[in-house]
Amino acid sequence: MEQSWNAELYDKKHGFVSNYGNEVLEWLDPNKEEQILDLGCGTGDIVKELHDAGVKKIKGIDASENMIMQAREKYPDLSFDVKDATMMTFEEEFDAVFSNAVLHWVKEPDKALDSIYRSLKSGGRFVAEFGGKGNVQTIVEEIKKEFVKNSIPYDQAQFPWFFPSIGEYTTLMEKAGFRVIAALHFDRPTKLEGESGLQNWLDMFGQFMFQNLDDDTITRIMNNVEQNLKSDLWIQGEWVADYKRIRVKGLKE
Ligand code: BEZ
Repeated sequence: MEQSWNAELYDKKHGFVSNYGNEVLEWLDPNKEEQILDLGCGTGDIVKELHDAGVKKIKGIDASENMIMQAREKYPDLSFDVKDATMMTFEEEFDAVFSNAVLHWVKEPDKALDSIYRSLKSGGRFVAEFGGKGNVQTIVEEIKKEFVKNSIPYDQAQFPWFFPSIGEYTTLMEKAGFRVIAALHFDRPTKLEGESGLQNWLDMFGQFMFQNLDDDTITRIMNNVEQNLKSDLWIQGEWVADYKRIRVKGLKE
C-alpha cells in the first residue's frame, strides 16, 4: 500500500478525510496536560489542530512515509513518526489514543488493538472512527460487477478494507482488554468534490481493488463505474459516496 499513497493528492482532493474528524474529537475530549497519540495521522492536520488547542504532548504516527514526510514539512515543530498500527512498541505512554478514518486499512485488527491497549496508561482511553459495515458498498458492488463483465477473477481476500459491525469490533476490543463504553454505526453520506469527484476517489482508493490490472482496463472500469453510479450517487449536482462509519470508545481500566 505504501508506494501508492500520494500525500499531496490526499491533502488537495481529500481534505474531507481530516475535516470529518471533528466529532470523533468531541468523543476524545482532550485535556491539555495529556499525552495523546494520533494513530494514522496522515499529513498531520488533526495533530496541528490539537496542538493549537493547547494539547502540547501530542504525537502523530502513520504507516506511510509519504504522509509523514508531508506532515513534517507542513508542521516541522510537531512530533511525527512512521509506524504501523500493528507494530507499535509503546508501553503505557499515552493517556489517549485516537484514530480517524484509518483503521479500515488495518486487516489485522486484533494486533492493532493489542498494541493500542499496551500503549495506553492505566485509565487511558481509545477513541476511533472508521469505515463500518456496508461502507462504500454501492461503489464496491459496482466495481465487482465490472470485474464480472470483464471476466476478471475477484477473490474476497483481495478486498482492501476491514469494515466491521459494532458487534464484531467491540468483541475484538473486549478481547484486547478494553471496557467498551460507547459505539455507533451510522450513515455519513460524503460529498466528493467537483464533477470528477468519483473519478478522483476511484483514482485514490479504487486502485487498491485494481491491482494487477492494466491501465486501459482500469480506465474502462472507472468510466463504466462512474456512468453506472450516476443515477444513485450524483445527487443535486454533486457526487455523494455512501460512507458508513463506526465510532467507538474504550477504556483501559
Ligand atoms: C473511508 O474513509 O471510509 C474509506 C476511504 C477510502 C476507501 C475506503 C474507505
